Amino acid sequence: MVRSSSQIVLLLLWFLCGAIFCLSLSRGNSHMLCNRKDRDVLLQFKKGVVDPSGLLSSWSNREDCCEWIGVHCHNKTGRVTKLDLSFYIISQQNYRLQGLTGEINLCVLQLDFLNHLDLSSNDFTIIQDSTNDRQRYYNSSFSTPHLHNANISSLHYLDLSSNPYLKIDNWRWLSLIPSLKYLNLSFIDLQGETDCLHSISTLLPSLLELRLKWCQLNSVRLSSKYANFTSLTVFDLFCNNFNSKVIEWVSNFGDSLSYLDLGCNLIDAITDTLLNLQNLKYLSLSWNKLKGTIPNWLAQFKNLQELDLSENSFHGSIPLVLGNLSSLTQLIVGGNSLGGVLTESNFANLTNLKVLDISLSAFQFNVNSDWIPPFQLEEIRLKSCILGPKFPIWLYTQRFLQILDISTTRISVFDHNQFWSFVSNITSILDLSNNSITGDISNLVLSTDSIDLTSNKFHGELPRITPDVGDFFASDNSFSGSISPLLCGTGKAIDNGLWFLDLSNNHLFGELPDCWMNWKGLITINLASNNLTGSIPPSMGKLSNLAGLYLYDNNLSGGIPLSLQQCNQLKFLNVAGNKFSGSISSGMPQSLVALNLRGNEFRGNIPPQICQLSCLIILDLADNSLSGPIPKCLHNLTSMKSGSTFKISGFFIPKIDNIYPYTFKFHPKGLELEYKFDLLNLWRYIDLSKNNLTGSIQPELMLLVGLISLNLSQNHLRGTIPQEIGQMKNLESLDLSMNQLFGEIPQVMASLSFLEYLNLSFNNFIGRIPTGTQLQSFDPSSYVGNPELCGAPLKNCAQEKKSVDIVNAKDQNEFLSCLYIGMGVGFATGFWGVCIALFFKRAWRHAYFKFLDEIKEQVYMKVHLIINSIR
Ligand SMILES: *[C@@H]1O[C@H](CO)[C@@H](O)[C@H](O)[C@H]1NC(C)=O
Ligand SMILES: *[C@@H]1O[C@H](CO)[C@@H](O)[C@H](O)[C@H]1NC(C)=O
Ligand SMILES: *[C@@H]1O[C@H](CO)[C@@H](O)[C@H](O)[C@H]1NC(C)=O
Ligand SMILES: *[C@@H]1O[C@H](CO)[C@@H](O)[C@H](O)[C@H]1NC(C)=O
Ligand SMILES: *[C@@H]1O[C@H](CO)[C@@H](O)[C@H](O)[C@H]1NC(C)=O
Ligand SMILES: *[C@@H]1O[C@H](CO)[C@@H](O)[C@H](O)[C@H]1NC(C)=O
Ligand SMILES: *[C@@H]1O[C@H](CO)[C@@H](O)[C@H](O)[C@H]1NC(C)=O
Ligand SMILES: *[C@@H]1O[C@H](CO)[C@@H](O)[C@H](O)[C@H]1NC(C)=O
Ligand SMILES: *[C@@H]1O[C@H](CO)[C@@H](O)[C@H](O)[C@H]1NC(C)=O
Ligand SMILES: *[C@@H]1O[C@H](CO)[C@@H](O)[C@H](O)[C@H]1NC(C)=O
Repeated sequence: MVRSSSQIVLLLLWFLCGAIFCLSLSRGNSHMLCNRKDRDVLLQFKKGVVDPSGLLSSWSNREDCCEWIGVHCHNKTGRVTKLDLSFYIISQQNYRLQGLTGEINLCVLQLDFLNHLDLSSNDFTIIQDSTNDRQRYYNSSFSTPHLHNANISSLHYLDLSSNPYLKIDNWRWLSLIPSLKYLNLSFIDLQGETDCLHSISTLLPSLLELRLKWCQLNSVRLSSKYANFTSLTVFDLFCNNFNSKVIEWVSNFGDSLSYLDLGCNLIDAITDTLLNLQNLKYLSLSWNKLKGTIPNWLAQFKNLQELDLSENSFHGSIPLVLGNLSSLTQLIVGGNSLGGVLTESNFANLTNLKVLDISLSAFQFNVNSDWIPPFQLEEIRLKSCILGPKFPIWLYTQRFLQILDISTTRISVFDHNQFWSFVSNITSILDLSNNSITGDISNLVLSTDSIDLTSNKFHGELPRITPDVGDFFASDNSFSGSISPLLCGTGKAIDNGLWFLDLSNNHLFGELPDCWMNWKGLITINLASNNLTGSIPPSMGKLSNLAGLYLYDNNLSGGIPLSLQQCNQLKFLNVAGNKFSGSISSGMPQSLVALNLRGNEFRGNIPPQICQLSCLIILDLADNSLSGPIPKCLHNLTSMKSGSTFKISGFFIPKIDNIYPYTFKFHPKGLELEYKFDLLNLWRYIDLSKNNLTGSIQPELMLLVGLISLNLSQNHLRGTIPQEIGQMKNLESLDLSMNQLFGEIPQVMASLSFLEYLNLSFNNFIGRIPTGTQLQSFDPSSYVGNPELCGAPLKNCAQEKKSVDIVNAKDQNEFLSCLYIGMGVGFATGFWGVCIALFFKRAWRHAYFKFLDEIKEQVYMKVHLIINSIR
């Protein structure tokens, strides 16, 4: 969860500025030349590096190596002291570049005065030990760890984190860096590296901080004998596969440990042996499997400042004794099954509290109306607590809030002026969604980074927003009037302004404004279910980051402008239920995953260019006036050729309702369903019904074996059902009704075992309905209007038929790459794409965490990890 976001932001910015300052400092000293040996070592190191983006182009023979990017020298001796090749630094935040890959040559340890080495967030693959005398050195150092006659590196900081493809199969090189104090191997797969903990604990006696987030470590061979870390102060084991055994193990670490993160493991029980760690200041057990009540003994951690027990299965209330932890700054217990009444005494001694998260609990506050809490919070999350209908007056005493989440708390009553002047000071997140808040806020100018007003009773015109606003969610209200004042007021382009805009389900009217070029950062626009008129303005084509455009259920008209083709990230386009007309544009963005033009007035042929949309999995052109044949090339829609379930790997932005709010009305089984896009349950469907299509159903169409639903009903199609339909094993819904199809129903259809809905009515089919459980079990209405059809469930026939063999088709899947957002190849690229995004848009990070609640897929955990590591 987001903690003291602004502090993090400041810290990281400070760190960045520091780094840039250092860089410029070292550049400034142009008269100082680096040590010749150091330069040779660096050049040797570079030889092993593959550098596709030329990040190390400043590393050349000629220049002073102290001026090379990432190289820091002592200002008098010119010896290299620090090498910082973290992608974040060397890419200068241009996350479209690719990180370094290839090998990490340990020759770099021959830099005699190197004490800081950071190679994090790249794509390195192996650690290469090329020096000849190393083998001897290892052998001797293993027998006598504290060797004095060998050259021992003075390195005390090593960060190799987030090199996810790095393979480390031997740990003896650690003996070359015995003075190491800080080691970060987070996000490196150490599964199966059973020696890893043992080697680290024996070979690095000076280690103070060890970060092993998301390393796939498990509890096998966990014992203090095997790995004894008694001098560690920081131990980060977030997101591994440790079970409750890990508690006993870490409990032996003793007094030095002040920071322990055991979040996101498989721990289902904790014992008070943990109290051995008397100096613990930070303890996280979040995202585990803990149950029962929150143990009272936690209150005996006298020095505890941050306690995170969120996302477990605790029940009961918050023990009163936790109110004794007067050092506590963060109390995070959201996402459990907690509840009960909280009184002033729960908080009596929590004078330093800055973060309180009791969200997703059934807590009620029973405090005096004039209660002045002893704390000044920066973040409070009360989602789903029982607060309403009156806004809790005591919250007004919190003058430094950056995050306020009072969603789903039944709040409806407050003093308009006092409330809005209070929330106008909140900088990061303001979540008021799912309450009954009423009022006209058109006179307000909102500036919080993420604003969620969804599902309230706001009316009147929209408020104004400043360029500081990143997310503005206001759907399911009664806002009316035009969108223009909200968007066009600023009059100038804002590159890092709004990312997500959701104004759906309101009563907005008027034309779409033509000032989208001012909001180039937009990723999703949802204006569905309003009363908007006019056409899509050309400036929407300027939105080069746009991934989702939802304009369905309005009164929009005109054509789909060609300029939209420039939105080369556009994945979801839904303009169903409008009055769009003309022919379907042949220039749709190649990136489209879902295209919904249903219920408009499009005419003419379906352009064959549609077949080139290789990412498309949803094509809905139903209920228009399209004519001509179904394009023969539809089988080129390659993403529809694979099945419906995925093994998710790689890295992409996962579904968050707010990123891809792809809800659309779905008509699979004669019903109208609302469907939400969900990466793990991807429907693939084609709906061309209610048009004026002619010609026959081509056998090639049956190559789209990933299809779950095919609807060609209410057209003028002729001919027979191709035998190849037997390949479409994923088909759950097939509607060919109200055409002029004829011939027999192919026997192979009896093998479509997922088929739940079938409608072949009102055609000219003849003969016997094939025998097979599915086909017989449908209602007779599936077959009516075919006078010469017989067999169950219709009338009996006279003669018998033979069955035909089933054709099998193989699934294949290259679809996932379609969902990447504007990122090229390489982890570093994707990593920083998301990471920077997450970093600057704090609200996202919360959304990711919410998402993780639903799915703990590996890829999402990666995101989780990333978020946590920049925290
Ligand atoms: C060199 O560094 C030291 C301390 O790090 C600092 O006091 C000194 O001013 C620096 N000298 C130059 C010339 O930058
Ligand atoms: C180091 O030890 C390994 C086995 O532990 C051995 O194979 C190797 O020859 C030794 N190297 C030297 C230089 O002694
Ligand atoms: C070890 O240090 C000596 C002198 O300090 C130097 O001559 C030698 O090259 C060093 N060896 C390595 C492998 O760096
Ligand atoms: C890696 O760990 C070190 C030591 O704990 C820490 O200072 C550093 O910030 C970490 N790096 C990343 C990328 O989180
Ligand atoms: C762990 O190391 C400490 C200090 O080096 C030592 O006192 C303790 O006995 C060790 N524990 C085990 C189980 O080896
Ligand atoms: C707060 O601390 C005081 C003394 O420090 C103690 O007497 C009191 O019981 C504590 N209150 C609660 C609610 O723990
Ligand atoms: C908002 O912040 C300003 C400046 O920090 C302060 O003067 C004002 O009292 C605050 N308003 C509220 C309602 O807290
Ligand atoms: C939409 O606007 C038209 C007139 O512009 C009006 O007649 C109609 O009632 C409005 N519909 C809704 C749902 O507000
Ligand atoms: C369909 O794919 C084939 C080969 O895969 C290609 O030759 C053909 O041009 C494509 N047709 C269209 C309309 O994209
Ligand atoms: C359908 O097509 C026929 C002939 O192709 C034409 O006469 C008729 O007007 C069309 N209907 C619509 C709704 O486009």
